[in-house]
Amino acid sequence: MVKRNWGFATLAVHGSGGVCPHTGAVSMPIYQSSTFAFHSAEHGEKLFAGEETGYIYSRLSNPTIDALQREMASLEKGEAALAFSSGMAASTAAALAFCQSGDSVLCTKVVYGGTYALFAHIIPRLGIETIFVDGTNLEEIERAIKPNTKLLFIETPANPTLDIVDIEGCVAIARGHNIALAVDNTFATPYYQQPLTFGADLVIHSATKYIGGHGDTVAGLIVSNKEIIQRIHDEVLVDMGAVISPFNAWLLLRGLKTLPVRMDRHSANGMRVAQFLSFHPKVERVYYPGLSIHPQHELAKKQMTNFGGMVSFDLKADQTQIRRFLDSLELCTLAVSLGDCDTLICHPASTTHSTYSPEELKDARINEKLVRLSVGVEDPKDIIDDLHQALRKT
Ligand SMILES: Cc1ncc(COP(=O)(O)O)c(C=O)c1O
Repeated sequence: MVKRNWGFATLAVHGSGGVCPHTGAVSMPIYQSSTFAFHSAEHGEKLFAGEETGYIYSRLSNPTIDALQREMASLEKGEAALAFSSGMAASTAAALAFCQSGDSVLCTKVVYGGTYALFAHIIPRLGIETIFVDGTNLEEIERAIKPNTKLLFIETPANPTLDIVDIEGCVAIARGHNIALAVDNTFATPYYQQPLTFGADLVIHSATKYIGGHGDTVAGLIVSNKEIIQRIHDEVLVDMGAVISPFNAWLLLRGLKTLPVRMDRHSANGMRVAQFLSFHPKVERVYYPGLSIHPQHELAKKQMTNFGGMVSFDLKADQTQIRRFLDSLELCTLAVSLGDCDTLICHPASTTHSTYSPEELKDARINEKLVRLSVGVEDPKDIIDDLHQALRKT
């Protein structure tokens, strides 16, 4: 039994519905089976006809994956959820579920590089037009809507500049024009931001990041209402086939139990690192929504309950010096991805966001000197000492 009024930390542990109903196992078993036996030929027929419910084949549904989906629905305050093989698979499924040839989609300019490539290069090949808009400018978003616009896709906080997009403002626009609003909530996690409670239609996660939290799996999630989830399941996921494996679903279930504990630590460390960087003479600008100098700090406070562990900064340095800084780090690991217990650092313009042309980077205000830090859960002093010694050598 799950009580909707339980606190977040309780739901993080119990939100999938408690012990395994079949065995009493406290840790949900990994149902590592591709297929499930029918009791009889008639039973099989009825399952396929939808006259009975039950497990058929793990591309359609699986008990371990179901437990993860129940858990995520409860944490995001949605009715239902769907798990995918990656965050990109989740975003692709959302786009395919809402748009078809002849439609138009709006996407904010600052998004993860893979998401940018999806909307800039793949979606247009299907005859769907993408218009990129400044996520910090609601008027620009509204002006870009056309009669054939079906979906507004936003990411907030945005990767890598930590732009904050006004979720309630976007909800008002989307409702006014009868279009769907999808929010990539990867950076904030449901612990700090629950877009569905503001009226968004669907929430998307790269569960690879904070949801898993340990850098050991690639996965994605969509949370929404029952009707939308059923539609994405039936019309896209099942035949697109980008399902999560039962083992990866189990890793996410395990990761979720400590999500609030980890996020508290990521945020506390993130704030300390952001403060350290903002006083460093070799740092030109720090991007962290928890700092009062962040241009959307007030909006961040309004729609988030804390600011997380993602901190970006522009170095006062040329390309060679940026490389020297990154190569001098001893604790912070030079790698893409984020949300792991380990502190990870990367240079988006040449890695995660290399899908943008130099002009597109400029247009999105993603500086070539920007370094993105996913602050881990280590002792903050050690992270800061490492940054300090590498900055000294820059
Ligand atoms: C904000 C955001 N959304 C989506 C994705 C894509 O997720 P995945 O790598 O799990 O496909 C990423 C990946 O870095 C991301 O940072």
